Amino acid sequence: MARDKVTVIGAGNVGATTAQRIAEAGLADVVLVDIVEGLPQGKGLDLAEAAPVVGHDARLIGTNDYAATAGSDVIVVTSGLARQPGMSRDDLLAKNAGIVNAVVEASAAQSPNAVLVIVTNPLDAMCHVAMQASGFPRERVLGMAGVLDSARFRTFIAEELGVSVADTSAFVLGGHGDTMVPLPRYSTVAGIPITDLLPEDRIAALVERTANGGAEIVALLKSGSAYYAPSASAFEMVDAILRDRHRVLPCAVFLKGEYGVDGLFVGVPVVLGRAGMERIIEITLTDDERRAFAASAAAVQELVDKLPH
Ligand SMILES: NC(=O)c1ccc[n+]([C@@H]2O[C@H](COP(=O)([O-])OP(=O)(O)OC[C@H]3O[C@@H](n4cnc5c(N)ncnc54)[C@H](O)[C@@H]3O)[C@@H](O)[C@H]2O)c1
Repeated sequence: MARDKVTVIGAGNVGATTAQRIAEAGLADVVLVDIVEGLPQGKGLDLAEAAPVVGHDARLIGTNDYAATAGSDVIVVTSGLARQPGMSRDDLLAKNAGIVNAVVEASAAQSPNAVLVIVTNPLDAMCHVAMQASGFPRERVLGMAGVLDSARFRTFIAEELGVSVADTSAFVLGGHGDTMVPLPRYSTVAGIPITDLLPEDRIAALVERTANGGAEIVALLKSGSAYYAPSASAFEMVDAILRDRHRVLPCAVFLKGEYGVDGLFVGVPVVLGRAGMERIIEITLTDDERRAFAASAAAVQELVDKLPH
């Protein structure tokens, strides 16, 4: 049986680290693609030369040519620009929409049965671009954000309570970033809701730190943004898909009436397996949660409305 194949587009920080995680886990062969000549080839070769030491035998190559990506089972899209000084959010939206459109069109043509995992920001809007550019059904277009937001929330819960992150779980809904909707009543330590373990003001502080998790890292790094936790999160989704694990993970998916939202990518818990999104898990929200979720969806809609048509 041939080993699975994953294409990672964008050989920058998130893309190269995702490729490394996939190969080192022996999960799949990896084709790393970038628009910059030499960059994916160099990183691909460097990663391949680590294999004898690390002890995996996945094949890793870098290329600027989409022909090499043909027949991929999963395509991870991390290509894009970071916001530069003087660039407005709308400029960035238009630039990254152009990039995601081009790379998804090129890669989907080579791998018409692949599952797309979108990472490029602004995440939820880029998922729309990817679905349109690929023509794939919604089951095979997934956005990575909720896994990362949950990981950050779990890290802060564990730190606050002095417990292992292994015993924490977090439940996060909504768009990526400021308007995400963490659900403390479903966020637990060994099954105990954190609402039973922490006072309201502490939970609010952890929630706020989670919502600003990306900005906190950017402020510390000064240039560049987070990539260790983002690549770990993208890896977790790829692993759930390729190993058909039926993991329940928060992902951005195209809602068709679920959670009262129609025709928009928003983060919700889904079951992930070989075919991509197997189903959406819908829970009843409280009035406050419903309001926060609607505000989050409205923020995504605002970005989608600004996408170039
Ligand atoms: N969804 C999330 O939770 C999350 C988390 C972290 C980062 N991100 C996003 O992921 C993206 C990548 O972040 P990064 O830190 O790796 O950035 P980076 O600048 O290190 O890498 C981006 C890479 O994309 C490449 N690229 C640009 N245009 C391309 C094209 N047309 N075709 C192929 N490659 C192209 C660039 O050459 C570069 O190597 C950003 O948009 C970032 O905001 C999202």
